[in-house]
Amino acid sequence: MNKKIYKRVTVKSLQEMKDNAEKISMLTSYDFTLAGIVDKSGIDVILVGDSASNIMAGHETTLPITLDQMIYHASSVIRAVERALVVVDLPFGTYQSDSQAALESAIRIMKESGSHAVKLEGGKEIKDSIKRIIRAGIPVMGHLGLTPQSIYKFGTYTVRAKEDKEANQLIEDAHLLEKIGCFAIVLEKVPSKLAERVAKEINIPIIGIGAGGNVDGQVLVLHDLIGMTKEFNPRFLRRYMNLHDEIVNAISNFSDDIKSGDFPNENEQY
Ligand code: KIV
Repeated sequence: MNKKIYKRVTVKSLQEMKDNAEKISMLTSYDFTLAGIVDKSGIDVILVGDSASNIMAGHETTLPITLDQMIYHASSVIRAVERALVVVDLPFGTYQSDSQAALESAIRIMKESGSHAVKLEGGKEIKDSIKRIIRAGIPVMGHLGLTPQSIYKFGTYTVRAKEDKEANQLIEDAHLLEKIGCFAIVLEKVPSKLAERVAKEINIPIIGIGAGGNVDGQVLVLHDLIGMTKEFNPRFLRRYMNLHDEIVNAISNFSDDIKSGDFPNENEQY
């Protein structure tokens, strides 16, 4: 079968991709310039992740980033994007208290950034919030497994749901998210056998990060993929570039050229 060309990716396109066994590609972006490059490269979903808290702001966790900051990142991204579906993380503290707060946060993201969908971390404990957001017409992506906003509950960033009890809860939560209307679920850092089972049992797309290859799509953090981050080296990460070292090289050459008087030369001035 010929691969369908999507001029504009929607939540419906993602469901079609799953139904046609076409894998979904997803990558983070937080700014206009890189989001434009990611979009032109043909990525299906751009996630304005709360990992911006680590990558952009240098925080140790995703917890400190605010709703205003997420809206700033999302509106920068959306200005660059012509094809991809843009999904924005609801940051920690903006949806856990009650469903009214969750709805207000999601509405602010949609209205003020122009993004297409939101992502929330968690299962049954946030079901009322998810239902209320979906009732307002806002598409919701779920996120199960390692949910970094709960890092202080977990204590470590290690693989989740290795034991039966947690795995069964995750399967139950995935069914629940599908039932209440999520359009896709991110599964982070869980055993590949478990992820495969979830992707088979659940009809909406399951997008993995550290969840093996037998799911419906894959997501990575852009800065990890292009090697701008150096210290973060989990097993699931494939680096396609070593941009960190290339940038260091370019900048030190620039600095050397200034010191030696080589820059600017005659053609580089008026
Ligand atoms: O915030 C983020 O970047 C994420 C991905 C790792 C899935 O949630």
